[in-house]
Amino acid sequence: MKKLLVTGGAGFIGSNFVRMSLSEHSDCFIVNLDKLTYAGNLENLAGFENHPNHKFIKGDICDGLAVEKIIDQYKIDTIINFAAESHVDRSITEPKIFIETNVTGTLTLLEAARDKKLERFIQISTDEVYGQLGPEGKFTEKTPLSPNSPYSASKAAADHLVKAFGHTWGVKYNISRCSNNYGPYQFPEKLIPLMINNALNNKELPIYGDGLYVRDWLYVYDHCTAIWKVLTEAPPGEIYNIGGCSEKTNLEVVGLILDYLKKPKSLIEHVKDRPGHDRRYAIEARKIIKELGWQPSVSFEQGIKKTIDWYLKNEVWLSNVVSGDYQKYYDSMYSNR
Ligand code: NAD
Ligand code: TYD
Repeated sequence: MKKLLVTGGAGFIGSNFVRMSLSEHSDCFIVNLDKLTYAGNLENLAGFENHPNHKFIKGDICDGLAVEKIIDQYKIDTIINFAAESHVDRSITEPKIFIETNVTGTLTLLEAARDKKLERFIQISTDEVYGQLGPEGKFTEKTPLSPNSPYSASKAAADHLVKAFGHTWGVKYNISRCSNNYGPYQFPEKLIPLMINNALNNKELPIYGDGLYVRDWLYVYDHCTAIWKVLTEAPPGEIYNIGGCSEKTNLEVVGLILDYLKKPKSLIEHVKDRPGHDRRYAIEARKIIKELGWQPSVSFEQGIKKTIDWYLKNEVWLSNVVSGDYQKYYDSMYSNR
């Protein structure tokens, strides 16, 4: 039985990972440590609160004593670190918390993994650590790190710390670097859920700049199966890129959402660009496909339909998420664009 400490397991990707693991693998016990920031939501774990192989604990990854206590009490063998401040736009307005959680928090978890001699430390990183691409080429695991936003700089710092703990103290680690995720339970500050929510409410769809920025899109369930492969099959010290083989411009993504919802293109509004906006990300995922036998299960066209259907079926989840401070956030972010 694997004894996992999953951090950030009430967020978007972490909660999907907890759901997938408990549904498909009976041989794991998960302690889920999450601070429940604006992005963490216990409703993301509905139906799994009382699962016998799941224990949720509200807490901060920067609290080393709490982390060590959990490791001892639950005989944890592996940490999978999803916890992070994850939104580029927020990192431009308030970078400090990104350093605290993404850098100091990862350092705190690494110290615990080292001192408690854990079997493995898995860092969930991002393709944004590589910087940006022109029209050609893809990021490989050997691409030098060259982050451009405070968010990606904090994630790159964390990746360097993970490697340094491996080199200096022999901590056994893996790092996965994925492209943009989409799917159920994503907070509507990121492109796809924000546009779905606005389109459903016949509100403007704010496209930054010319809308020709390119991202590779990865369905969140496919990301979770890739992480499971890394957890169970990867040799220590290996880094894996995870991508969906689905490059799209932002205008293409929004066009598909509008078509599926039968809403007019006139809802699209070009607004002031994000400062330092990375033009293109594209992932070469050949290593994980070849060495661990992983494959994405859906195309973008299939995944986006599943995602929109999920948001349509989960109106209560969506209306709870956009109540409270969300409108204040939206107005502060978009009123001056
Ligand atoms: P998210 O913002 O939806 O969730 C983050 C979770 O971490 C939340 O539940 C939050 O409460 C928790 N958290 C934040 N600070 C914490 C702290 N100090 N201690 C404990 N918990 C804390 O993020 P996500 O989209 O699910 O991303 C998960 C991971 O994947 C992150 O590390 C992110 O950098 C990485 N990633 C995300 C994407 C993407 O497209 N969403 C792409 C590449 C990499
Ligand atoms: P986002 O979902 O914030 O992810 P990231 O910046 O980490 O790639 O943004 C995805 C793309 O969509 C990015 O090019 C910025 C753009 N974007 C908009 O045009 N409008 C928006 O309202 C948002 C949130 C993003």
